[in-house]
Amino acid sequence: MKKTILITGGAGFIGSHLVRHLVQKYPDYHILNLDALTYAGNLENLRDIESSANYTFVKGDICDGDMLQQLFEKHPIDGVIHLAAESHVDRSILNPVEFVRTNVLGTVTLLNAAKNAWKGRSDVLFYHVSTDEVYGSLAPGDYFLETTSYDPQSPYSASKASSDHFVRAYGNTYGIPFVLSNCSNNYGPYQFPEKLLPLFISNIVAEKPLPVYGKGDNIRDWLWVTDHCVAIDLIFHKGRHGETYNIGGRNEWTNIDLVKLLCTSMDEKLGREAGSAESLITYVTDRPGHDMRYAIDPSKLEAELGWTPSLQFEEGLLLTIDWYLKNQEWVERVQSGTYREYYETQYGERLAN
Ligand code: NAD
Ligand code: DAU
Repeated sequence: MKKTILITGGAGFIGSHLVRHLVQKYPDYHILNLDALTYAGNLENLRDIESSANYTFVKGDICDGDMLQQLFEKHPIDGVIHLAAESHVDRSILNPVEFVRTNVLGTVTLLNAAKNAWKGRSDVLFYHVSTDEVYGSLAPGDYFLETTSYDPQSPYSASKASSDHFVRAYGNTYGIPFVLSNCSNNYGPYQFPEKLLPLFISNIVAEKPLPVYGKGDNIRDWLWVTDHCVAIDLIFHKGRHGETYNIGGRNEWTNIDLVKLLCTSMDEKLGREAGSAESLITYVTDRPGHDMRYAIDPSKLEAELGWTPSLQFEEGLLLTIDWYLKNQEWVERVQSGTYREYYETQYGERLAN
């Protein structure tokens, strides 16, 4: 069956993997990618599929209601997969208002455009791609379930929690068919090098300090980005409407263990003496309000839709390192412009302490 799917944020990290996956897997679908191309969005991420006949890029801001109305009038959109967001926790601490604008106001503006265009149709779907951070921080032994109460702790997670609530509220109030997923930390190619793994890979290459926040004992649950995209595809096509699915690969690491594994692998890849990268580790002032532990229980997704992750973490990490080493020019290009200013504000003070 033909479909026209609007992907928002398709030039970012996860969005570009999702767009590529859908364009290649569904030649009958029209994949529309709407992205404002902020510092985090980069059309280079989609170079290999940009001339595909079933793909169209539209530059635009999800806060622009008139543009969204025109987009829904111009294209027979019957599915929205919404990823556009400000996504970096540290930036949300520096500039919370920007996160409210994009993540809350942008999501509501997009919901409104879908509501007005779809007029009560039931053969459509609004899919919100969200984060496990909405659940807050876990005690040892606990896991995030779809029924876990929301307890967001950062401006980023508060904005994502709010947007989740608005999606459910639009479903409940206006009858928009919807589905949500809350995923753990993704890793892989094309992740903006402000996030832990790509930042540390590029710092190791440049022999710059590796700023580990606090004691490095915070725990994150890591998932290969394509496994996330396969889960989104499954949920979009087969998930029960009105439901939430947690996505995660049962792959918890303390930050320091992860960084040490990265250091060992990088020394081998770069042919440097063992211990070189580890000597760059620098413990710095902690992230304010830093959540201690995230861990997803993905049983619902596994049982209902048969999803399982495809890749072991150690293997995915080596693939990620290889990609960044081969794409140093991409790293340099995306880190130019406003990134330098951000990096200095962010790390100048932390490293000085
Ligand atoms: P990203 O920062 O790499 O990409 C975000 C994209 O959204 C960029 O292309 C950017 O240009 C675009 N964008 C930002 N503001 C916009 C606006 N106003 N209008 C249109 N486009 C805009 O983010 P990501 O890491 O790929 O995350 C994508 C989504 O997945 C986000 O909603 C995030 O909350 C969620 N998520 C991310 C992770 C993760 O580990 N990265 C995990 C779970 C959920
Ligand atoms: O859990 C899902 C979330 O994962 C997504 O919703 C977010 O969009 C995504 O950015 C990610 O959030 P985190 O805050 O967990 O990712 P980040 O890469 O920023 O940090 C991972 C861990 O590493 C976290 O505990 C903070 C720590 N860290 C991070 C950076 C950038 C450091 O110790 N030093 C650093 O320089």
